[in-house]
Amino acid sequence: MAKQIPAVVNLAFPNGRKLDVPTGLFIDNKFVPSVEGATIDSINPVTEELLATVSSATEQDIDIAVASSRNAFKNRMGSQLPTCATLADLLERDAEAFAGLEALDNGKSAQVAREVDLPDSIACIRYYAGWADKIFGQTIEVDDKGLKSASTRVEPFGVCAQIIPWNYNIMMLAWKIGPALAAGCTVILKPSELTPLPALKFSELVAEAGFPPGVFNCVPSYGPIGGAALASHLNVDKVAFTGSTLTGRKIMQAAALSNLKKVTLELGGKSPHIIFESANLKDAATHVTGGIFLNQGQDCSAGSRLYVQASVYDAFLKELKASAEEWTAGYGDNFKEGALGGPLVSKAQRDKVVNYVEGAKEAGASILYGGTKWEGKGWYYLPTIIGDVTPDMKVVKEEVRLIIILFIHHRYSDDLRSSFVGVKIFGPVLVVSKFNTEEEVIELANNTTYGLGAGFHSSDANQCQRVQASLEAGTVWVNQYGLLYNQSPFGGYKQSGIGRELGSYAIDNYTQIKTVLWDYSGGSSQ
Ligand code: NAI
Ligand code: MG
Repeated sequence: MAKQIPAVVNLAFPNGRKLDVPTGLFIDNKFVPSVEGATIDSINPVTEELLATVSSATEQDIDIAVASSRNAFKNRMGSQLPTCATLADLLERDAEAFAGLEALDNGKSAQVAREVDLPDSIACIRYYAGWADKIFGQTIEVDDKGLKSASTRVEPFGVCAQIIPWNYNIMMLAWKIGPALAAGCTVILKPSELTPLPALKFSELVAEAGFPPGVFNCVPSYGPIGGAALASHLNVDKVAFTGSTLTGRKIMQAAALSNLKKVTLELGGKSPHIIFESANLKDAATHVTGGIFLNQGQDCSAGSRLYVQASVYDAFLKELKASAEEWTAGYGDNFKEGALGGPLVSKAQRDKVVNYVEGAKEAGASILYGGTKWEGKGWYYLPTIIGDVTPDMKVVKEEVRLIIILFIHHRYSDDLRSSFVGVKIFGPVLVVSKFNTEEEVIELANNTTYGLGAGFHSSDANQCQRVQASLEAGTVWVNQYGLLYNQSPFGGYKQSGIGRELGSYAIDNYTQIKTVLWDYSGGSSQ
């Protein structure tokens, strides 16, 4: 419903610090209300209270943003080297404020945001600022008389829609705009309706850095409204998306049915994490809990399926539980120093976790750790380990039965229907199974329609070589988990996505090759 909202909302952090955040759509370097006056209410998941009301783009606003973006692209305003570097500097200057804003809007630990999200995002924008003048084509010999030539130009796609989720706002923004701007594209960023604030605050930095109007527009909106309008827009050249499999399918379909815009997708997974008997168990336990409990499991590559070799199962479980305990630090106060855990982003997301675990209990699995909501304000769920799951029974093999239970129990059935094998919980829930042989566990690990990440721990070098080559995943972590570098690519096998983000590979997502064939013989070569 249309309502008048103030142009700026003044937020207060728990430590008393204040921060102004603009509430308008960011188009042509200005904050403007939605034409129809549509709005989004963003909630703080810790307090369950309204944080801010911001403008929400509808189709008309998307048309205006696309026209602005097209105009900026036509005038080739996207030569971005100095401004991208400045943008990284400005984000670094304001890192503390952005970490706090992530914590308020998403609920995550402010310390984690400050120590992980922000430094990685700043480094990512800086990394791609360095790429802007290092994208070039080839000269190809095609004529031994030297009278004809072939060369390639690496050109930007043009107007790019970038639709991001709510789990890592500034980081997903950096991963997306970094390569797009370096390639000379113009960008229309649509943040999630659950967390519109960090991207709006970031938009101020874009204007301050001196980007020409229209090179970067930011349009918070509901997915089925603004997101769908972007995906089916006839004047958008490319859409890049991170989020659920179901929405990824819709975006690809919308692209196919409109103008066949190029599509890249990052759709998460159900990533396996394997403990072989030669592993350093204590060390591996920290990687396993970090791999599933960081960001409350709301992580596309969360290691949610744990396989432990039978000979070390009991010993490893002991280490695992001890390590899991650390992840409730700071429940109730995500700004506390030392807080690691936080609430789920929304009530719906928390209820999804509740339903999953209740479903697992019904399917016969036993709860080794956690398994309930946290009794307190905020959408918290306890770090949970579901065990007594053997490969031949219950939760793992009976995912089909579990899915049926989940169909009956809750309203996320569409997402599940879209990807039959592998329930993506997207919460702090780890499912543990025993295995005996390497061959058996590789079979189990690969038995999924997804393939984003996979990890394993072993001190047998030959085994490490065999296993890394056998796992079907875009990223394989050996004796560690979850760590990413801006210079190394990230993306999915199978239904985990299309294309690679980060590294030089991401530049390919925003460029197309023009081949120039030239005859300079003056006609003598005919
Ligand atoms: P979602 O995939 O629906 O939302 C992600 C983004 O897509 C948001 O910006 C949303 O507004 C937009 N969107 C939604 N519908 C759209 C449409 N029809 N056309 C264009 N854009 C659209 O995910 P949601 O509902 O926030 O979370 C549901 C589940 O998705 C989670 O429980 C989790 O399993 C998965 N997910 C995976 C993520 C990942 O990192 N791979 C991130 C967020 C969610
Ligand atoms: Mg919020």
